[in-house]
Amino acid sequence: MSSAPLPLSTWARNISPSPTLAVDAKAKALQAAGEDVCSFAAGEPDFDTPEHIKEACIAALKSGKTKYAPTPGIEPLRQAVAERYVAEYGLKAAAAQVIVSPGGKFNCYLGILATCSPGDEVIIPAPFWVSYPEMVKLAGATPKFVLCDDRTGFKLTPAQLAAAITPKTKLLVLNSPSNPTGAVYTREELAALVDVAVKHNLYLLSDEMYEHLIYDGAKPTCVATLSPEAEARTITVAGFSKTYAMTGWRIGTTLAPLPIAKAISELQSQMSSNVTTFAQYGALAALKEKEKTKASLATMMTAFDRRRKNLHAELNRIPGVNCLLAQGAFYLFPNISSFGLKDTEFCSRLLETEKVAAVPGSAFGAEGYLRLSYATSDEIIAKGVSRMAKFCASLRK
Ligand SMILES: Cc1ncc(COP(=O)(O)O)c(C=O)c1O
Repeated sequence: MSSAPLPLSTWARNISPSPTLAVDAKAKALQAAGEDVCSFAAGEPDFDTPEHIKEACIAALKSGKTKYAPTPGIEPLRQAVAERYVAEYGLKAAAAQVIVSPGGKFNCYLGILATCSPGDEVIIPAPFWVSYPEMVKLAGATPKFVLCDDRTGFKLTPAQLAAAITPKTKLLVLNSPSNPTGAVYTREELAALVDVAVKHNLYLLSDEMYEHLIYDGAKPTCVATLSPEAEARTITVAGFSKTYAMTGWRIGTTLAPLPIAKAISELQSQMSSNVTTFAQYGALAALKEKEKTKASLATMMTAFDRRRKNLHAELNRIPGVNCLLAQGAFYLFPNISSFGLKDTEFCSRLLETEKVAAVPGSAFGAEGYLRLSYATSDEIIAKGVSRMAKFCASLRK
């Protein structure tokens, strides 16, 4: 009998593991080994889930909410999600259009699976969140990247979009506020992109995961509200992870036109079934106990905003670093191309010599940048950025 290992599937062989999780894991391993690491790698709030949300989950668990629930989510949660779209954006959303999934990541994947077939093309503006291309490939479709650098504020323009569309294009992915750049599109900018998408009969996956993490009085745009045509073709993904510091709970939401919502629910019924039943009651409390939730979010946003401004100012003080002031999420995306090093090399040397963890822009499809998360303490930010300044100075010698 041959002892050669059995070959894994093409899916398993072709998938790239998440580079953001890899850098975060490396930083944590160094910390565990006793190194004094300043990590800008985290993709999650450094705050705990608000108490009232935890209490509601514990109460649900104690009262026996431990059985299977309907695949698309418990009815009161679907209803509350629909109501928030009505209240926040004036969208005529119904509970039947809402699917609660195990994390926004899975919502995105199911949205892609429900709309894309092998041979289809999906336009992904770069810099992009690392999971979109892999999800598209897992659906058998082909990701098509359009590079949007800091000269356009990391935003796709209608002309770039139009030029990227082919007869095979099926879906456009939008993500505002963006991970990794923090860029926030204006309503007008999104409307112009949606016009092009409608003209070419594309589906839209609008990942609005960071909709509530927004600064300087900027307003989030719910893409589905842009026009009836937009509403009829948009899969809106959002969730609890970032806004309510619930990353470990694994609860995300999709709002989609009924036929798409139904398809997503059927896919989910065979792939994961419902999100942990008692956890959904915690999510329900996040939406129902509005005043408490608002207060927790305000505390978190005050800290994020202060750190955003400090980090931005300190980065731009480093000769050779150029950083836009992002209006959303908890990331900055400085340009480090002036140092003439590949960003992967820059990041590995920064971690090795100064014990500062950052994710290279190339992981997000944009070479020459770093993604820095400021979802960490003021002290770490101050210490980390001064180490980075020292590192950058050493490169200029
Ligand atoms: C843009 C974007 N979309 C979706 C997600 C997925 O969030 P979740 O943790 O709920 O799966 C993330 C998480 O990092 C994200 O950054």
